[in-house]
Amino acid sequence: TTYKIAVIAGDGIGKEVMAEALRVMEVLQQYDADFKLQLEEFPWSSDYYLEHGEIMPKDGLDQLKKFDAILFGAIGDARVPDEVTIWELIMPIRKQFKQYVNFRPVKSLKGIGSPLKNGKDIDFVIFRENAEGEYSNSGGRMFEGQADEMAVQNTIMTRKGIENITRAAAQYAVAHGKQKVTSATKSNAVIHTLKLWDEHVKQVLAEEFPDLQLESNYIDALVAYFVERPQSFEVVVASNLFGDILSDLGSSLVGGLGLSPSANINPEKDYPSMFEPVHGSAPDIAGRGIANPIAQIWSAALMLSHLGRPDLAEKIVLAIEHVLLDGEVRTKDIGGSASTTEMGDAIIEKINAQ
Ligand code: NAI
Ligand code: MG
Repeated sequence: TTYKIAVIAGDGIGKEVMAEALRVMEVLQQYDADFKLQLEEFPWSSDYYLEHGEIMPKDGLDQLKKFDAILFGAIGDARVPDEVTIWELIMPIRKQFKQYVNFRPVKSLKGIGSPLKNGKDIDFVIFRENAEGEYSNSGGRMFEGQADEMAVQNTIMTRKGIENITRAAAQYAVAHGKQKVTSATKSNAVIHTLKLWDEHVKQVLAEEFPDLQLESNYIDALVAYFVERPQSFEVVVASNLFGDILSDLGSSLVGGLGLSPSANINPEKDYPSMFEPVHGSAPDIAGRGIANPIAQIWSAALMLSHLGRPDLAEKIVLAIEHVLLDGEVRTKDIGGSASTTEMGDAIIEKINAQ
């Protein structure tokens, strides 16, 4: 089977870590005559914006639509406002392609110790609602520059949106033999949107997944539980903002942003899904060849899994774990001095050795 993949490396370390993910993909194709990737690279980035006055062409989404998946690096650059990079590239892709599930595994990799006291392995997943909620452009500002200046930012939650993310989380739980779904809320204080959230999370689970247990936690308590008892979570379902915050916290529980992958999924598969590391373009280390490529390579593994090749995804994760267990080749963020390319080399070596 040939899969058509759109590659958007983006800015800063996005370009550096993408190069390693592409090398890994290249190697995998040598092992399986039936597995072919047809990659097309798109230069959409802050440089592209500065040259063309737009971050992607007007028909950018039409161009992407015909691909089986999108592999994304990271975007963000001091010369371009984040509103442009986020709202004119990432958000249109997530929203127009109905990628309403943001899937983020929080899993201790072998060879990376937990920073927590009991040191036990952590293995849960976060389902973040990815198409509505707090990240809306509805609202506005008034009385600018005056003493009574104000802003209104609307959170938009729909019954359908809540049902969809809950169902995706619950289906995953059932498919992976999990017993419990944890919902992040704050409906004691945010009484309109999050009460709707509570009601429909509860209803979907009760009606469609009666065997799953629902744990509902206020977000302020939940962040503390993440630190105190992360091993107790199996599947966490959260709104866009809560899910964003929880997943960065989750990432730091298992070794940091350099190791954390994510998937933006359109479960109906009527549009391509997009796979990207949780981290951004890291301007503080960009250009030095020291970024950790694991998050990007693991994101590519999630993509292969989504495309129906979990065996190849497994191969990649095993190779990453072997490298970490050996402990010799590590980038700076995980306590070593290896370069991005050396890390890529080491992972490829382990794939070749399997
Ligand atoms: P960031 O994730 O780029 O960096 C945060 C910290 O983590 C930095 O100290 C960085 O050096 C470190 N880090 C991140 N990835 C790493 C890796 N692979 N290896 C080693 N260290 C790594 O977040 P920050 O600094 O808040 O944002 C920088 C830019 O990236 C901004 O323009 C922001 O808007 C953008 N951004 C883009 C995202 C995307 O493309 N989806 C997501 C998050 C931020
Ligand atoms: Mg984030």
